[in-house]
Amino acid sequence: VPMSRHPSRPRFVAELSQCLFDFVIQLLPTAEEMAVKEDVRKLLERLIRTIEPDSRLLSFGSTANGFSLRNSDMDLCCLIDSDEKLNASNLVTMLGDLLERGLPLGIACDIGFENRLALENTRLLMCYAMIDPTRVRTLVLFLKVWSKRRKINSPYTGTLSSYGYVLLVIYFLVHVKNPPVLPNLQQMPPLRPISKEDTHLGGHNTWFFDDVELLRQRWHSENTETVAELLIDFFRYYSRDFLYNTSVVSIRAGLLKKESKGWQSEYPPGRYNDARERNRLCIEDPFETDYNVARCVTKDGLYTIRGEFMRAGRVLAGRPERAIMALADLCA
Ligand code: CTP
Ligand code: MG
Repeated sequence: VPMSRHPSRPRFVAELSQCLFDFVIQLLPTAEEMAVKEDVRKLLERLIRTIEPDSRLLSFGSTANGFSLRNSDMDLCCLIDSDEKLNASNLVTMLGDLLERGLPLGIACDIGFENRLALENTRLLMCYAMIDPTRVRTLVLFLKVWSKRRKINSPYTGTLSSYGYVLLVIYFLVHVKNPPVLPNLQQMPPLRPISKEDTHLGGHNTWFFDDVELLRQRWHSENTETVAELLIDFFRYYSRDFLYNTSVVSIRAGLLKKESKGWQSEYPPGRYNDARERNRLCIEDPFETDYNVARCVTKDGLYTIRGEFMRAGRVLAGRPERAIMALADLCA
């Protein structure tokens, strides 16, 4: 619907931005919650060190990347720095017991081992969040709440993880928006020469420009769109423009073809059913580039997700009296 036909459209969009900020702010974890989580991490780390003195317990995922909602789970990663990792199985048993019995203060958490790539991709997302905290965090946090309320944030039942949604947002802000809202941190020239050892982890190139302070001085987006405009356009892009059958979302390299990655979803019927089911929606992991973050999304799951993108687009394109009503509708 052309804007000019609705004289109140600009007002609606401005109001929507304000509502999005207000909505997201009340869903942020309190300082107290963050402090309790940090206490739990330290406590667990002390426990683990009684078995394996050379270990560290680090947090990753939403607690560490700036995209955390109130009462969200904590993702923890155990790194063992010594060479002989003899005690690892004892550790796994102990932590398993502990987590089964439940943590103090009702905090839910997952502990993984040696997941160094997850620590790096958490840092990458955090850097993106810090470049333009207001727009990036508001968009991401809103989409996380929205996808949970609309029940399309459930990798175990065929829809997409929060991590997948965050990558969709970053891709949109780096590669779809023109002028871009964010730079491509993985393609910026490094400040000084870097060696292969410094930048590779298990054969994957994990380098990215991580001097956010410098970036905030030197890089300014020409894009002045408001959060509401970006959100409306996000839904438009993923409900109308993105070619799900042939394309791959890559924050590292931009738009890719499934064919070029061997991720085709249209194999001859009857064979390769497995592969076909895995690559309905394709989102390349920023570092583990042969890994499709959306491999868990099934045919039905994708149908539902796309339906939700379209519904959201409709709700925001309609002309509700008040932006607040549109938001309520969106997450109903
Ligand atoms: N991760 C990953 N590969 C995936 C899914 C997750 O590497 N396919 C890692 C990422 O480091 C991500 C973290 O696990 O940041 C947590 O993922 P997820 O739980 O999906 O995101 P959160 O931001 O923690 O969202 P939520 O609050 O919904 O738990
Ligand atoms: Mg999580």
